Amino acid sequence: MPNYHTSKPKTETAIDRTVPDFPIAQVNDEDIYFNTHEAPEYLPEIESSVKDFVQFHHEQSGKPVVLVTSGGTTVPLENNTVRFIDNFSAGTRGATSAEYFLENGYAVIFLHREFSLLPYSRHYSHTTNNCFLDYMIEKHNKIEINEKYADQMLHVLRKYKAAQDSKSLLLIPFTTVNQYLYTLKSTSKLLQILEGKALFYLAAAVSDFFLPQSRMPQHKIQSQTSGKLIVDLEQVPKFLRRLVDNWAPSAMIVSFKLETDNSILIKKALGALTRYQHQLVIGNLLQTRKWEVVFIRPDGEQTWIRLNEEEQKNNVEIESLIIPGVMVEHKAWIESHKH
Ligand code: PMT
Repeated sequence: MPNYHTSKPKTETAIDRTVPDFPIAQVNDEDIYFNTHEAPEYLPEIESSVKDFVQFHHEQSGKPVVLVTSGGTTVPLENNTVRFIDNFSAGTRGATSAEYFLENGYAVIFLHREFSLLPYSRHYSHTTNNCFLDYMIEKHNKIEINEKYADQMLHVLRKYKAAQDSKSLLLIPFTTVNQYLYTLKSTSKLLQILEGKALFYLAAAVSDFFLPQSRMPQHKIQSQTSGKLIVDLEQVPKFLRRLVDNWAPSAMIVSFKLETDNSILIKKALGALTRYQHQLVIGNLLQTRKWEVVFIRPDGEQTWIRLNEEEQKNNVEIESLIIPGVMVEHKAWIESHKH
């Protein structure tokens, strides 16, 4: 386990999807951003573990590597952060997807919001009705797993151990947008060595607005000063085009598009494909994201993936259908990038 922490938790608020699209980040914006925002001090530690992980899978296991981003980002309003802006994402899509990638032979770098859901442990954490202690009983002064849950736990445990034993899962945390951007950039560059065998699956809900370090107060904002808090945020540069063009030019890149209004989802997804020139957008609506998504490709082709009523009743996870679909496209991508 790393000995650094990226966060002081807490969640809640929503994303405003009504604002028009931001300009794509240009080389200049990249320089400006990274020259005016400090890298997290633990970044070299992360770079070293990513490097080892990528090298192992490149030279020894031969597995394709997927970078899954997951969870929301916080936007601190103070340097010694008491207050921050956040969003709804719990990391369910990312954590669940990571498990299906692992099961299907991928090595996974899980770039996640610290304290959001994690692959495997997600089955026992963040639940509103099942505390993990409910899975245990006391018998003759010893702890045992409740028989009722034993089979299901064994199933999850086996998969978790398989991921660990094959060194196929690397957990990398972030909390703030700044930490996310720096870590994404570093990790992308380290993945370049894998060329087409690297896959980006960007499920994180990254904040579109932030408070630049240059304007961040050092200490807690005092409530007595004016009685009102007016927050003046700036747009986070849209680095997706930089990722496609410079940070990971040979990798396949899958982004997500979240909307709350059905009538604009496809248009926004097609807009993202044109702007960023990547390979696939997975569109989802906040209200229905657990049982339907749509794959949108650069040629305009759309494929809906839906769970039927029976599947929903049986708690089938839509990610069990999404991941095989993504893998088909990634296989074709790898083939087309073979020398
Ligand atoms: O975590 P859950 O509760 O399960 O919810 C999952 C989800 C709804 C958050 C997920 O399925 C999803 O849709 N994530 C993307 C949300 C979104 O619409 O992001 P966006 O439009 O701001 O960004 C578009 C894409 O670029 C996303 O893939 C995002 O991860 C990526 N991005 C955005 C901004 C940025 N600075 N860097 C990025 O990588």
